Amino acid sequence: MKRIGILTGGGDAPGLNAVIRAAVKTALNEYDCEALGIKNGYDGFLDEDGIIPLGRSEVRGILPRGGTILGAANRGNPYARKVIRDGKEVTIDVSDEIVKGIEKLKMDALLVLGGDGTLHIAHELAQKGVPVIGVPKTIDNDIGGTEITFGFDTALNIATEAIDRLHTTAESHHRAMVIELMGRDAGFIALNAGVSGGADVILIPEIPFKFESIMAKIRQRAERGRKFSILAVSEGAKMQGGKQVFSRKGDEIYVPRLGGIGQVVAEHIEKEGYESRVTVLGHLQRGGTPTAFDRWLATRYGAAAVRLAARGGFDRMVALQCGEITDISLEEATAAPKRVNTNGDAVVTARNVGISFGDE
Ligand code: F6P
Repeated sequence: MKRIGILTGGGDAPGLNAVIRAAVKTALNEYDCEALGIKNGYDGFLDEDGIIPLGRSEVRGILPRGGTILGAANRGNPYARKVIRDGKEVTIDVSDEIVKGIEKLKMDALLVLGGDGTLHIAHELAQKGVPVIGVPKTIDNDIGGTEITFGFDTALNIATEAIDRLHTTAESHHRAMVIELMGRDAGFIALNAGVSGGADVILIPEIPFKFESIMAKIRQRAERGRKFSILAVSEGAKMQGGKQVFSRKGDEIYVPRLGGIGQVVAEHIEKEGYESRVTVLGHLQRGGTPTAFDRWLATRYGAAAVRLAARGGFDRMVALQCGEITDISLEEATAAPKRVNTNGDAVVTARNVGISFGDE
């Protein structure tokens, strides 16, 4: 193994730089192998200045830094790239150009740090002979076959701290405070932060809610003298028989953008006579320095990905299972997204301590 490439696809997540650093150091220290960075996801293969050398000096000091030194692009799908042809915007498949680019660069392996979309593309490129290895990244924690993705722990800590802060102002003003959290179709951030922050109501996509049930919880608290409530609402949560709320429609390039359910819930609570406010935590969940856990996990993933490359374990993804790093096929990793187990101990525990999911 003489040369590896590293790219970061999709939205950023805390810990990307820690993976890059660990991969570069492992490649140099253990295999005397050089590393190249691909800028802005798969787009870097198509751009003139899209490839950069990654040596010791490039990765020095990046362990605690959020974001990605390589840049990210969450619309960089080579199978559907928007270009202008004859003055018109058209969508074309440039995957063969990417394959050629990788061959030209003589890469023995390409480490793809990404979420569901990026890893799907990696698996498709593997079918064209590209020696890809996936590393599971996303604050949403929704990738199959791994217990946890890097980035999730940081988002969880930020969300929990936000809930703690909302608690004091909620109590002072006797308000229902709604916090809308990220996660797309997976409720892990809202569930785990809601439990950790002592929320009264948690709404997640996996458990559709009804307003009567939310109001019953708020009223019950008020009757017991607790005149404030905290509601942790996943951006993908939806009413029973209803639809998710989007702030932007999707197309062949952009995935639809969720957003607005927190406002819908807060408005309903106000209509029922309880003062309410909504906070949308948004990209604060993705920015900034990774937690110690994410740095540790990201470092283990980065080093393991290079070891896997050296063994020729392509079209596979590093994964955490039973606390140990292992690897699974990209096919398995991308077959079905991970969702909250609605009968699992996390949900049962939340119910045990009196948290309402708005469904009963
Ligand atoms: O998948 C990560 C994530 O942060 C989701 O939780 C969120 O819905 C989405 O990305 C936001 O994407 P963007 O950066 O395009 O706003």
